Amino acid sequence: MSKHRKRHEDLRSYRWYGVNDLRSFGHRSRTKQMGYAEEEYAGRPVIGILNTWSEMNPCHTHFRERAEQVKRGVWQAGGFPVEMPALSLGEPFMKPSTMLYRNLLAMDAEELLRANPIDGAVLLGGCDKTTPALLMGAISMDLPTIFVPAGPMLRGSWRGETLGSGSDVWKYWAELRAGNIEEEDWKEIEDGIARSPGHCMTMGTASTMTSVVEAMGLSLSGAASIPAPDSNHPRMASASGRRIVEMVWEDLKPSDILTAGSFDNGILTALALGGSTNSLVHLVAMAGRTPVRLALDRFDSLSRQVPVLANVRPSGAYLMEDFYYAGGLRGLLTRLREHLDLEAMTVSGQPLGQALEGAGVYNDDVIRPLDNPLFPEGGLALLRGNLAPDGAVIKHSAADPALLQHKGPAVVFKDYNDMAARIDSPDLEVMADSVIILCNAGPLGGPGMPEWGMLPIPQKLLQQGVRDMVRISDARMSGTSYGTCVLHVAPESHVGGPLALVQDGDIVELDVPGRRLEVHVSAEELDRRRQAWKQPSPTYPRGYGAMYSRHVTQADKGCDFDYLHSGASIPEPEIH
Ligand code: FES
Repeated sequence: MSKHRKRHEDLRSYRWYGVNDLRSFGHRSRTKQMGYAEEEYAGRPVIGILNTWSEMNPCHTHFRERAEQVKRGVWQAGGFPVEMPALSLGEPFMKPSTMLYRNLLAMDAEELLRANPIDGAVLLGGCDKTTPALLMGAISMDLPTIFVPAGPMLRGSWRGETLGSGSDVWKYWAELRAGNIEEEDWKEIEDGIARSPGHCMTMGTASTMTSVVEAMGLSLSGAASIPAPDSNHPRMASASGRRIVEMVWEDLKPSDILTAGSFDNGILTALALGGSTNSLVHLVAMAGRTPVRLALDRFDSLSRQVPVLANVRPSGAYLMEDFYYAGGLRGLLTRLREHLDLEAMTVSGQPLGQALEGAGVYNDDVIRPLDNPLFPEGGLALLRGNLAPDGAVIKHSAADPALLQHKGPAVVFKDYNDMAARIDSPDLEVMADSVIILCNAGPLGGPGMPEWGMLPIPQKLLQQGVRDMVRISDARMSGTSYGTCVLHVAPESHVGGPLALVQDGDIVELDVPGRRLEVHVSAEELDRRRQAWKQPSPTYPRGYGAMYSRHVTQADKGCDFDYLHSGASIPEPEIH
Protein backbone atom coordinates (compact mmCIF):
# COMPACT_ATOMS: atom_id res chain seq x y z
CA MET A 1 0.00 0.00 0.00
CA SER A 2 1.22 3.48 -0.78
CA LYS A 3 -0.23 5.03 2.40
CA HIS A 4 2.03 6.31 5.20
CA ARG A 5 2.10 4.23 8.35
CA LYS A 6 0.15 5.86 11.10
CA ARG A 7 1.88 7.38 14.13
CA HIS A 8 0.27 6.85 17.49
CA GLU A 9 -1.02 10.46 17.49
CA ASP A 10 -2.93 9.55 14.32
CA LEU A 11 -4.89 6.79 16.04
CA ARG A 12 -8.58 7.45 16.46
CA SER A 13 -8.29 6.38 20.12
CA TYR A 14 -5.71 9.14 20.71
CA ARG A 15 -8.63 11.58 20.94
CA TRP A 16 -9.87 9.65 23.98
CA TYR A 17 -6.57 8.69 25.61
CA GLY A 18 -3.72 10.80 24.30
CA VAL A 19 -4.74 14.39 25.00
CA ASN A 20 -4.46 15.83 28.47
CA ASP A 21 -7.79 17.21 29.61
CA LEU A 22 -10.66 16.47 31.96
CA ARG A 23 -12.32 13.87 29.71
CA SER A 24 -9.12 11.98 28.89
CA PHE A 25 -8.44 11.76 32.63
CA GLY A 26 -11.76 9.89 32.92
CA HIS A 27 -10.94 7.56 29.99
CA ARG A 28 -7.55 6.68 31.44
CA SER A 29 -8.68 6.30 35.05
CA ARG A 30 -11.61 4.12 33.96
CA THR A 31 -9.31 1.91 31.90
CA LYS A 32 -7.13 1.56 34.99
CA GLN A 33 -10.32 0.68 36.92
CA MET A 34 -10.50 -2.43 34.70
CA GLY A 35 -7.02 -3.40 35.85
CA TYR A 36 -4.91 -2.24 32.92
CA ALA A 37 -1.64 -0.42 33.57
CA GLU A 38 -0.77 2.55 31.37
CA GLU A 39 1.92 0.60 29.49
CA GLU A 40 -0.73 -1.99 28.54
CA TYR A 41 -2.88 0.47 26.58
CA ALA A 42 -1.15 3.82 26.06
CA GLY A 43 -0.14 4.44 22.47
CA ARG A 44 -1.46 1.06 21.31
CA PRO A 45 -4.18 0.60 18.69
CA VAL A 46 -7.45 -0.25 20.44
CA ILE A 47 -8.96 -3.29 18.76
CA GLY A 48 -12.69 -3.78 19.24
CA ILE A 49 -13.66 -7.47 19.13
CA LEU A 50 -17.35 -7.57 18.33
CA ASN A 51 -18.52 -10.89 19.73
CA THR A 52 -21.88 -12.39 18.79
CA TRP A 53 -21.54 -15.16 21.40
CA SER A 54 -24.86 -16.03 23.04
CA GLU A 55 -26.48 -19.05 24.66
CA MET A 56 -29.27 -18.48 22.17
CA ASN A 57 -26.82 -19.03 19.32
CA PRO A 58 -25.56 -22.65 19.20
CA CYS A 59 -23.37 -21.93 16.16
CA HIS A 60 -21.25 -19.51 18.21
CA THR A 61 -20.70 -21.52 21.41
CA HIS A 62 -16.91 -21.41 20.90
CA PHE A 63 -16.72 -17.63 20.50
CA ARG A 64 -15.83 -16.98 24.16
CA GLU A 65 -12.60 -18.90 23.61
CA ARG A 66 -12.09 -17.47 20.12
CA ALA A 67 -12.34 -13.93 21.49
CA GLU A 68 -9.55 -14.81 23.95
CA GLN A 69 -7.47 -16.22 21.09
CA VAL A 70 -7.98 -13.05 19.05
CA LYS A 71 -6.90 -11.03 22.11
CA ARG A 72 -3.76 -13.18 22.40
CA GLY A 73 -2.83 -12.18 18.86
CA VAL A 74 -3.65 -8.50 19.46
CA TRP A 75 -1.43 -8.39 22.57
CA GLN A 76 1.41 -10.12 20.71
CA ALA A 77 1.30 -7.49 17.98
CA GLY A 78 1.24 -4.58 20.39
CA GLY A 79 -2.45 -3.71 20.36
CA PHE A 80 -4.97 -3.27 23.16
CA PRO A 81 -7.94 -5.66 22.70
CA VAL A 82 -11.40 -4.87 24.04
CA GLU A 83 -14.25 -7.33 23.67
CA MET A 84 -17.72 -5.93 23.08
CA PRO A 85 -20.87 -8.05 22.98
CA ALA A 86 -23.04 -7.47 19.93
CA LEU A 87 -26.58 -8.62 19.17
CA SER A 88 -26.46 -12.33 18.34
CA LEU A 89 -28.81 -13.58 15.64
CA GLY A 90 -29.23 -17.28 16.45
CA GLU A 91 -30.89 -18.71 13.36
CA PRO A 92 -32.70 -21.65 14.98
CA PHE A 93 -34.43 -19.67 17.72
CA MET A 94 -35.21 -16.10 16.64
CA LYS A 95 -38.75 -15.54 15.36
CA PRO A 96 -40.26 -14.60 13.01
CA SER A 97 -36.89 -14.47 11.26
CA THR A 98 -33.32 -13.36 11.94
CA MET A 99 -33.66 -11.35 8.74
CA LEU A 100 -35.98 -8.99 10.61
CA TYR A 101 -33.01 -8.20 12.87
CA ARG A 102 -30.10 -8.23 10.42
CA ASN A 103 -30.22 -4.46 10.05
CA LEU A 104 -30.45 -4.02 13.83
CA LEU A 105 -27.15 -5.90 14.28
CA ALA A 106 -25.68 -3.83 11.43
CA MET A 107 -26.64 -0.65 13.28
CA ASP A 108 -25.37 -2.11 16.57
CA ALA A 109 -21.98 -2.90 15.02
CA GLU A 110 -21.61 0.48 13.31
CA GLU A 111 -22.56 2.51 16.37
CA LEU A 112 -20.46 0.42 18.80
CA LEU A 113 -17.43 1.15 16.65
CA ARG A 114 -18.30 4.82 16.21
CA ALA A 115 -19.14 5.68 19.82
CA ASN A 116 -16.10 4.03 21.39
CA PRO A 117 -12.34 4.67 21.08
CA ILE A 118 -11.84 1.88 18.53
CA ASP A 119 -9.05 1.90 15.94
CA GLY A 120 -9.67 -1.48 14.31
CA ALA A 121 -12.34 -4.17 14.46
CA VAL A 122 -12.36 -7.96 14.58
CA LEU A 123 -15.83 -9.30 13.88
CA LEU A 124 -16.81 -12.71 15.25
CA GLY A 125 -19.77 -14.03 13.27
CA GLY A 126 -20.88 -16.85 11.03
CA CYS A 127 -24.44 -17.95 11.77
CA ASP A 128 -26.34 -16.80 8.68
CA LYS A 129 -27.24 -13.10 9.08
CA THR A 130 -24.43 -12.30 11.53
CA THR A 131 -21.86 -12.21 8.72
CA PRO A 132 -23.54 -9.65 6.45
CA ALA A 133 -24.91 -7.69 9.40
CA LEU A 134 -21.53 -7.20 11.13
CA LEU A 135 -19.91 -6.31 7.84
CA MET A 136 -22.63 -3.90 6.73
CA GLY A 137 -22.03 -1.95 9.95
CA ALA A 138 -18.24 -2.16 9.71
CA ILE A 139 -18.26 -1.12 6.04
CA SER A 140 -20.26 1.98 6.89
CA MET A 141 -17.92 2.82 9.78
CA ASP A 142 -14.88 2.06 7.59
CA LEU A 143 -12.25 1.30 10.24
CA PRO A 144 -9.65 -1.40 9.52
CA THR A 145 -11.63 -4.64 9.92
CA ILE A 146 -11.08 -8.41 9.84
CA PHE A 147 -13.91 -10.91 9.85
CA VAL A 148 -13.30 -14.11 11.86
CA PRO A 149 -15.76 -16.77 10.66
CA ALA A 150 -17.24 -19.27 13.15
CA GLY A 151 -16.37 -22.21 10.88
CA PRO A 152 -18.65 -25.11 10.01
CA MET A 153 -19.57 -27.80 12.54
CA LEU A 154 -18.52 -31.43 12.03
CA ARG A 155 -20.55 -33.83 9.87
CA GLY A 156 -23.75 -35.19 11.40
CA SER A 157 -24.15 -38.95 11.74
CA TRP A 158 -27.03 -41.44 12.09
CA ARG A 159 -26.67 -45.22 11.82
CA GLY A 160 -23.76 -44.90 9.45
CA GLU A 161 -25.48 -42.21 7.34
CA THR A 162 -23.90 -38.76 7.08
CA LEU A 163 -26.34 -36.03 8.06
CA GLY A 164 -26.21 -32.44 6.83
CA SER A 165 -27.72 -29.45 8.64
CA GLY A 166 -31.06 -28.41 7.31
CA SER A 167 -30.99 -30.48 4.12
CA ASP A 168 -31.43 -33.77 5.95
CA VAL A 169 -33.99 -32.28 8.29
CA TRP A 170 -36.22 -31.45 5.31
CA LYS A 171 -35.46 -34.80 3.69
CA TYR A 172 -36.29 -36.98 6.71
CA TRP A 173 -39.26 -34.80 7.72
CA ALA A 174 -40.75 -35.58 4.30
CA GLU A 175 -40.00 -39.29 4.85
CA LEU A 176 -41.65 -39.16 8.29
CA ARG A 177 -44.76 -37.49 6.82
CA ALA A 178 -44.79 -40.05 4.03
CA GLY A 179 -44.66 -42.85 6.65
CA ASN A 180 -41.27 -44.20 5.53
CA ILE A 181 -39.47 -43.68 8.88
CA GLU A 182 -40.71 -43.94 12.48
CA GLU A 183 -40.80 -41.40 15.34
CA GLU A 184 -37.86 -43.17 17.04
CA ASP A 185 -35.75 -42.83 13.88
CA TRP A 186 -36.61 -39.15 13.78
CA LYS A 187 -35.52 -38.80 17.44
CA GLU A 188 -32.17 -40.46 16.71
CA ILE A 189 -31.62 -38.08 13.80
CA GLU A 190 -32.26 -35.21 16.24
CA ASP A 191 -29.48 -36.61 18.48
CA GLY A 192 -26.91 -36.93 15.69
CA ILE A 193 -27.35 -34.03 13.30
CA ALA A 194 -25.59 -31.24 15.25
CA ARG A 195 -22.65 -32.63 17.21
CA SER A 196 -20.10 -29.81 17.60
CA PRO A 197 -19.82 -26.02 17.79
CA GLY A 198 -19.88 -24.22 14.47
CA HIS A 199 -22.38 -23.11 11.87
CA CYS A 200 -24.39 -25.32 9.50
CA MET A 201 -22.02 -27.59 7.58
CA THR A 202 -24.01 -27.78 4.37
CA MET A 203 -23.58 -25.05 1.74
CA GLY A 204 -26.18 -22.95 3.53
CA THR A 205 -26.17 -19.23 4.02
CA ALA A 206 -23.48 -19.41 6.70
CA SER A 207 -20.93 -21.38 4.63
CA THR A 208 -21.80 -19.33 1.55
CA MET A 209 -21.44 -15.93 3.19
CA THR A 210 -18.27 -16.68 5.17
CA SER A 211 -16.70 -18.01 1.94
CA VAL A 212 -17.93 -15.01 -0.08
CA VAL A 213 -16.52 -12.62 2.50
CA GLU A 214 -13.13 -14.37 2.42
CA ALA A 215 -13.09 -14.22 -1.38
CA MET A 216 -13.87 -10.50 -1.16
CA GLY A 217 -10.71 -10.07 0.91
CA LEU A 218 -12.29 -9.43 4.32
CA SER A 219 -10.95 -12.54 6.18
CA LEU A 220 -7.51 -14.11 6.24
CA SER A 221 -7.08 -16.46 3.30
CA GLY A 222 -8.24 -19.97 4.23
CA ALA A 223 -10.24 -18.88 7.28
CA ALA A 224 -13.78 -19.70 6.17
CA SER A 225 -13.38 -23.42 5.49
CA ILE A 226 -11.76 -24.46 8.80
CA PRO A 227 -14.19 -26.56 10.85
CA ALA A 228 -14.96 -24.83 14.16
CA PRO A 229 -13.47 -27.59 16.40
CA ASP A 230 -10.23 -27.94 14.35
CA SER A 231 -7.14 -26.59 16.11
CA ASN A 232 -6.39 -24.55 13.00
CA HIS A 233 -9.42 -22.46 13.93
CA PRO A 234 -8.03 -20.88 17.14
CA ARG A 235 -4.72 -20.39 15.33
CA MET A 236 -6.59 -18.49 12.60
CA ALA A 237 -8.25 -16.39 15.35
CA SER A 238 -4.93 -15.38 16.93
CA ALA A 239 -3.44 -14.70 13.48
CA SER A 240 -6.39 -12.38 12.80
CA GLY A 241 -5.62 -10.61 16.09
CA ARG A 242 -2.01 -10.09 15.08
CA ARG A 243 -2.93 -8.92 11.60
CA ILE A 244 -5.57 -6.35 12.62
CA VAL A 245 -2.99 -4.41 14.62
CA GLU A 246 -0.81 -4.09 11.52
CA MET A 247 -3.86 -3.12 9.45
CA VAL A 248 -4.47 -0.20 11.80
CA TRP A 249 -0.89 1.08 11.37
CA GLU A 250 -1.22 0.56 7.58
CA ASP A 251 -4.68 2.21 7.60
CA LEU A 252 -6.06 -0.63 5.44
CA LYS A 253 -9.82 -0.17 5.53
CA PRO A 254 -12.86 -1.84 3.89
CA SER A 255 -13.00 1.07 1.43
CA ASP A 256 -9.49 0.05 0.23
CA ILE A 257 -10.63 -3.55 -0.26
CA LEU A 258 -14.19 -3.38 -1.59
CA THR A 259 -14.36 -2.59 -5.29
CA ALA A 260 -16.57 -3.75 -8.15
CA GLY A 261 -13.90 -6.44 -8.71
CA SER A 262 -14.05 -7.73 -5.13
CA PHE A 263 -17.86 -7.87 -5.26
CA ASP A 264 -17.58 -9.86 -8.50
CA ASN A 265 -15.14 -12.20 -6.72
CA GLY A 266 -17.74 -12.69 -4.00
CA ILE A 267 -20.55 -13.35 -6.48
CA LEU A 268 -18.42 -15.79 -8.51
CA THR A 269 -17.60 -17.64 -5.31
CA ALA A 270 -21.26 -17.92 -4.31
CA LEU A 271 -22.07 -19.24 -7.77
CA ALA A 272 -19.24 -21.78 -7.96
CA LEU A 273 -20.17 -23.01 -4.49
CA GLY A 274 -23.80 -23.57 -5.53
CA GLY A 275 -24.35 -21.20 -2.60
CA SER A 276 -27.39 -19.87 -0.83
CA THR A 277 -29.88 -17.60 -2.58
CA ASN A 278 -29.66 -15.41 0.51
CA SER A 279 -26.25 -14.28 -0.70
CA LEU A 280 -27.94 -12.10 -3.35
CA VAL A 281 -29.86 -10.09 -0.78
CA HIS A 282 -26.84 -9.76 1.51
CA LEU A 283 -24.34 -8.83 -1.20
CA VAL A 284 -26.68 -6.18 -2.62
CA ALA A 285 -27.11 -4.80 0.92
CA MET A 286 -23.33 -4.79 1.53
CA ALA A 287 -22.71 -3.05 -1.79
CA GLY A 288 -25.36 -0.51 -0.84
CA ARG A 289 -23.03 0.59 1.96
CA THR A 290 -20.29 1.36 -0.61
CA PRO A 291 -20.10 3.40 -3.82
CA VAL A 292 -20.26 0.11 -5.83
CA ARG A 293 -23.58 -0.20 -7.66
CA LEU A 294 -24.63 -3.84 -7.72
CA ALA A 295 -27.81 -4.91 -9.54
CA LEU A 296 -29.29 -8.41 -9.49
CA ASP A 297 -28.59 -8.81 -13.20
CA ARG A 298 -24.88 -9.01 -12.37
CA PHE A 299 -25.51 -12.34 -10.57
CA ASP A 300 -27.28 -13.72 -13.62
CA SER A 301 -24.62 -12.68 -16.11
CA LEU A 302 -21.81 -14.09 -13.94
CA SER A 303 -23.90 -17.22 -13.36
CA ARG A 304 -23.75 -17.95 -17.08
CA GLN A 305 -19.94 -17.72 -16.97
CA VAL A 306 -19.01 -20.05 -14.11
CA PRO A 307 -20.12 -23.59 -13.31
CA VAL A 308 -20.83 -25.07 -9.88
CA LEU A 309 -17.61 -26.71 -8.71
CA ALA A 310 -18.31 -27.47 -5.04
CA ASN A 311 -19.91 -30.88 -4.64
CA VAL A 312 -21.49 -29.94 -1.31
CA ARG A 313 -25.08 -30.43 -0.16
CA PRO A 314 -27.74 -29.36 -0.92
CA SER A 315 -26.59 -29.09 -4.56
CA GLY A 316 -24.04 -31.91 -4.20
CA ALA A 317 -23.09 -34.86 -2.04
CA TYR A 318 -20.46 -33.83 0.52
CA LEU A 319 -20.27 -31.52 3.53
CA MET A 320 -18.02 -28.61 4.53
CA GLU A 321 -15.67 -30.87 6.50
CA ASP A 322 -14.97 -32.80 3.26
CA PHE A 323 -14.62 -29.50 1.40
CA TYR A 324 -11.94 -28.38 3.89
CA TYR A 325 -9.93 -31.61 3.53
CA ALA A 326 -10.22 -31.27 -0.26
CA GLY A 327 -8.46 -27.89 -0.20
CA GLY A 328 -11.29 -25.64 1.00
CA LEU A 329 -12.14 -22.28 -0.46
CA ARG A 330 -8.50 -21.58 -1.35
CA GLY A 331 -8.54 -24.70 -3.52
CA LEU A 332 -11.80 -23.72 -5.17
CA LEU A 333 -10.55 -20.19 -5.88
CA THR A 334 -7.47 -21.57 -7.65
CA ARG A 335 -9.86 -23.34 -10.03
CA LEU A 336 -11.66 -20.02 -10.65
CA ARG A 337 -8.48 -18.00 -11.18
CA GLU A 338 -9.20 -17.07 -14.79
CA HIS A 339 -12.56 -15.54 -13.75
CA LEU A 340 -11.38 -13.65 -10.66
CA ASP A 341 -10.01 -10.16 -10.18
CA LEU A 342 -6.67 -11.29 -8.75
CA GLU A 343 -5.55 -7.71 -8.16
CA ALA A 344 -8.35 -7.13 -5.62
CA MET A 345 -6.85 -6.23 -2.22
CA THR A 346 -7.27 -8.42 0.87
CA VAL A 347 -6.89 -7.92 4.62
CA SER A 348 -3.48 -9.57 4.40
CA GLY A 349 -2.22 -6.50 2.53
CA GLN A 350 -1.66 -8.67 -0.54
CA PRO A 351 -3.82 -8.87 -3.65
CA LEU A 352 -6.00 -11.97 -3.91
CA GLY A 353 -3.76 -13.67 -6.48
CA GLN A 354 -0.78 -13.49 -4.12
CA ALA A 355 -2.84 -14.53 -1.09
CA LEU A 356 -3.79 -17.73 -2.97
CA GLU A 357 -0.22 -18.83 -3.60
CA GLY A 358 0.39 -22.40 -2.46
CA ALA A 359 -3.30 -23.37 -2.56
CA GLY A 360 -4.37 -26.62 -4.22
CA VAL A 361 -7.16 -29.15 -4.61
CA TYR A 362 -6.71 -32.63 -3.11
CA ASN A 363 -9.98 -34.29 -4.13
CA ASP A 364 -11.38 -33.64 -7.61
CA ASP A 365 -14.74 -35.12 -6.74
CA VAL A 366 -15.38 -32.68 -3.88
CA ILE A 367 -13.95 -29.62 -5.67
CA ARG A 368 -14.53 -30.28 -9.33
CA PRO A 369 -12.26 -29.05 -12.14
CA LEU A 370 -13.78 -26.59 -14.62
CA ASP A 371 -14.03 -29.32 -17.26
CA ASN A 372 -16.03 -31.65 -14.98
CA PRO A 373 -18.39 -29.38 -13.06
CA LEU A 374 -21.24 -30.45 -10.83
CA PHE A 375 -23.57 -28.17 -12.77
CA PRO A 376 -22.67 -26.45 -16.05
CA GLU A 377 -23.61 -22.95 -14.97
CA GLY A 378 -23.61 -21.07 -11.65
CA GLY A 379 -26.29 -22.19 -9.25
CA LEU A 380 -28.47 -19.07 -9.28
CA ALA A 381 -30.72 -17.61 -11.95
CA LEU A 382 -32.58 -14.30 -12.02
CA LEU A 383 -36.11 -14.50 -13.41
CA ARG A 384 -38.31 -11.68 -14.63
CA GLY A 385 -41.79 -11.46 -16.12
CA ASN A 386 -45.28 -10.23 -15.33
CA LEU A 387 -45.15 -12.16 -12.05
CA ALA A 388 -41.83 -10.61 -10.95
CA PRO A 389 -41.23 -7.23 -12.64
CA ASP A 390 -38.32 -6.44 -10.27
CA GLY A 391 -36.94 -9.95 -10.31
CA ALA A 392 -37.10 -13.32 -8.57
CA VAL A 393 -34.44 -15.91 -7.90
CA ILE A 394 -34.09 -19.65 -8.26
CA LYS A 395 -31.30 -21.96 -7.16
CA HIS A 396 -31.65 -24.20 -10.17
CA SER A 397 -28.68 -26.36 -9.22
CA ALA A 398 -30.79 -27.71 -6.33
CA ALA A 399 -33.98 -28.17 -8.40
CA ASP A 400 -35.40 -31.08 -10.38
CA PRO A 401 -34.12 -30.47 -13.95
CA ALA A 402 -37.46 -31.73 -15.32
CA LEU A 403 -39.25 -28.78 -13.70
CA LEU A 404 -37.02 -25.99 -14.97
CA GLN A 405 -39.42 -25.41 -17.87
CA HIS A 406 -42.88 -25.96 -16.53
CA LYS A 407 -46.46 -24.72 -16.91
CA GLY A 408 -49.14 -25.58 -14.38
CA PRO A 409 -52.24 -24.36 -12.56
CA ALA A 410 -51.71 -22.21 -9.47
CA VAL A 411 -52.69 -23.29 -5.97
CA VAL A 412 -52.56 -20.08 -3.94
CA PHE A 413 -52.14 -19.65 -0.19
CA LYS A 414 -52.77 -16.13 1.04
CA ASP A 415 -50.28 -16.41 3.93
CA TYR A 416 -48.30 -18.92 6.00
CA ASN A 417 -51.19 -19.77 8.34
CA ASP A 418 -53.46 -20.44 5.38
CA MET A 419 -50.83 -22.77 3.95
CA ALA A 420 -50.24 -24.56 7.28
CA ALA A 421 -53.99 -25.09 7.69
CA ARG A 422 -54.69 -26.49 4.20
CA ILE A 423 -51.52 -27.96 2.66
CA ASP A 424 -52.03 -31.48 4.02
CA SER A 425 -55.82 -31.51 3.66
CA PRO A 426 -57.07 -34.45 1.60
CA ASP A 427 -59.54 -31.97 0.02
CA LEU A 428 -56.83 -29.67 -1.37
CA GLU A 429 -57.19 -29.53 -5.13
CA VAL A 430 -53.61 -30.09 -6.18
CA MET A 431 -51.76 -32.29 -8.66
CA ALA A 432 -48.10 -33.04 -9.24
CA ASP A 433 -47.98 -30.42 -12.02
CA SER A 434 -49.63 -27.67 -9.92
CA VAL A 435 -47.62 -24.57 -9.03
CA ILE A 436 -47.84 -23.77 -5.32
CA ILE A 437 -47.83 -20.06 -4.44
CA LEU A 438 -47.38 -18.48 -1.03
CA CYS A 439 -48.21 -14.77 -0.57
CA ASN A 440 -47.35 -12.39 2.27
CA ALA A 441 -43.95 -13.86 3.07
CA GLY A 442 -41.75 -10.97 1.89
CA PRO A 443 -39.78 -8.24 3.70
CA LEU A 444 -42.99 -6.55 4.92
CA GLY A 445 -45.45 -9.39 4.57
CA GLY A 446 -43.53 -12.03 6.57
CA PRO A 447 -42.54 -9.77 8.16
CA GLY A 448 -38.79 -10.14 7.83
CA MET A 449 -38.88 -12.27 4.69
CA PRO A 450 -38.70 -15.58 6.60
CA GLU A 451 -37.11 -18.71 5.14
CA TRP A 452 -40.43 -20.27 4.21
CA GLY A 453 -39.62 -20.51 0.49
CA MET A 454 -39.19 -24.30 0.40
CA LEU A 455 -42.96 -24.67 0.57
CA PRO A 456 -44.02 -28.14 1.73
CA ILE A 457 -45.19 -30.71 -0.78
CA PRO A 458 -48.84 -31.59 0.01
CA GLN A 459 -49.00 -34.82 2.01
CA LYS A 460 -51.22 -36.63 -0.46
CA LEU A 461 -48.66 -36.00 -3.21
CA LEU A 462 -45.78 -37.06 -0.95
CA GLN A 463 -47.56 -40.36 -0.42
CA GLN A 464 -47.77 -40.74 -4.20
CA GLY A 465 -43.97 -40.35 -4.36
CA VAL A 466 -43.82 -36.68 -5.47
CA ARG A 467 -40.68 -35.07 -4.04
CA ASP A 468 -40.43 -31.79 -5.99
CA MET A 469 -42.87 -29.27 -7.46
CA VAL A 470 -42.66 -25.70 -8.73
CA ARG A 471 -43.16 -23.44 -5.72
CA ILE A 472 -43.19 -19.63 -5.79
CA SER A 473 -43.11 -17.04 -3.00
CA ASP A 474 -41.75 -13.67 -1.96
CA ALA A 475 -40.00 -15.41 0.96
CA ARG A 476 -36.37 -16.43 1.20
CA MET A 477 -35.20 -20.03 1.50
CA SER A 478 -32.63 -21.50 3.82
CA GLY A 479 -29.41 -22.16 1.97
CA THR A 480 -29.70 -25.75 3.15
CA SER A 481 -33.03 -26.17 1.36
CA TYR A 482 -33.59 -27.54 -2.11
CA GLY A 483 -36.27 -28.01 -4.74
CA THR A 484 -37.76 -26.01 -7.59
CA CYS A 485 -38.46 -22.98 -5.41
CA VAL A 486 -38.75 -19.51 -6.92
CA LEU A 487 -37.93 -16.94 -4.24
CA HIS A 488 -37.61 -13.21 -3.48
CA VAL A 489 -40.39 -12.24 -5.91
CA ALA A 490 -40.27 -8.43 -6.13
CA PRO A 491 -42.22 -6.36 -5.56
CA GLU A 492 -43.71 -8.52 -2.80
CA SER A 493 -47.39 -9.36 -2.54
CA HIS A 494 -47.84 -7.34 0.68
CA VAL A 495 -47.28 -4.10 -1.26
CA GLY A 496 -49.44 -5.18 -4.19
CA GLY A 497 -46.86 -7.03 -6.29
CA PRO A 498 -48.38 -9.28 -8.96
CA LEU A 499 -48.08 -12.39 -6.76
CA ALA A 500 -51.00 -10.93 -4.76
CA LEU A 501 -53.16 -11.04 -7.90
CA VAL A 502 -52.77 -14.72 -8.84
CA GLN A 503 -55.83 -16.90 -8.30
CA ASP A 504 -56.29 -20.67 -8.02
CA GLY A 505 -56.22 -22.26 -11.45
CA ASP A 506 -54.33 -19.46 -13.25
CA ILE A 507 -51.65 -20.97 -15.48
CA VAL A 508 -48.17 -20.08 -14.26
CA GLU A 509 -45.08 -20.61 -16.37
CA LEU A 510 -41.52 -21.07 -15.15
CA ASP A 511 -38.82 -20.98 -17.81
CA VAL A 512 -35.37 -21.01 -16.21
CA PRO A 513 -33.36 -21.23 -19.47
CA GLY A 514 -35.38 -18.23 -20.77
CA ARG A 515 -35.17 -16.57 -17.30
CA ARG A 516 -38.95 -15.96 -17.31
CA LEU A 517 -41.70 -16.15 -14.70
CA GLU A 518 -45.17 -15.45 -16.09
CA VAL A 519 -48.79 -15.83 -15.15
CA HIS A 520 -50.94 -16.37 -18.23
CA VAL A 521 -53.59 -13.80 -17.36
CA SER A 522 -54.24 -10.74 -19.52
CA ALA A 523 -52.96 -7.33 -18.46
CA GLU A 524 -56.57 -6.06 -18.37
CA GLU A 525 -57.64 -8.83 -15.99
CA LEU A 526 -54.59 -8.25 -13.75
CA ASP A 527 -55.47 -4.54 -13.68
CA ARG A 528 -59.03 -5.36 -12.68
CA ARG A 529 -57.76 -7.56 -9.84
CA ARG A 530 -55.31 -4.83 -8.78
CA GLN A 531 -58.16 -2.32 -8.38
CA ALA A 532 -59.97 -4.78 -6.10
CA TRP A 533 -56.85 -5.62 -4.02
CA LYS A 534 -56.61 -4.25 -0.46
CA GLN A 535 -53.29 -3.86 1.34
CA PRO A 536 -53.09 -5.91 4.56
CA SER A 537 -52.71 -3.83 7.71
CA PRO A 538 -49.19 -3.36 9.15
CA THR A 539 -48.01 -6.02 11.59
CA TYR A 540 -46.25 -3.75 14.08
CA PRO A 541 -47.98 -0.75 15.69
CA ARG A 542 -44.81 0.35 17.55
CA GLY A 543 -41.20 -0.45 18.35
CA TYR A 544 -38.38 -1.76 16.19
CA GLY A 545 -40.82 -3.60 13.94
CA ALA A 546 -42.64 -0.35 13.13
CA MET A 547 -39.34 1.34 12.25
CA TYR A 548 -38.37 -1.70 10.16
CA SER A 549 -41.67 -1.58 8.27
CA ARG A 550 -41.27 2.10 7.45
CA HIS A 551 -37.73 1.84 6.12
CA VAL A 552 -36.97 -1.66 4.79
CA THR A 553 -36.37 -1.88 1.04
CA GLN A 554 -37.53 -4.68 -1.27
CA ALA A 555 -35.48 -7.84 -1.96
CA ASP A 556 -33.92 -6.50 -5.17
CA LYS A 557 -32.50 -3.58 -3.12
CA GLY A 558 -31.07 -5.85 -0.41
CA CYS A 559 -33.70 -5.23 2.32
CA ASP A 560 -31.44 -2.69 4.02
CA PHE A 561 -33.03 0.37 5.63
CA ASP A 562 -33.24 3.24 3.16
CA TYR A 563 -31.41 5.59 5.57
CA LEU A 564 -28.43 3.23 5.94
CA HIS A 565 -27.39 3.25 2.29
CA SER A 566 -24.06 4.91 1.58
CA GLY A 567 -24.16 8.67 1.42
CA ALA A 568 -22.78 11.65 3.30
CA SER A 569 -20.31 10.62 6.00
CA ILE A 570 -21.39 10.80 9.64
CA PRO A 571 -19.22 13.08 11.82
CA GLU A 572 -16.97 11.60 14.48
CA PRO A 573 -18.42 11.96 17.99
CA GLU A 574 -17.42 15.11 19.85
CA ILE A 575 -15.44 14.35 22.99
CA HIS A 576 -16.48 16.70 25.74
FE1 FES B 1 -26.50 -21.07 12.56
FE2 FES B 1 -27.41 -22.61 10.42
S1 FES B 1 -28.28 -22.32 12.40
S2 FES B 1 -25.72 -21.31 10.56
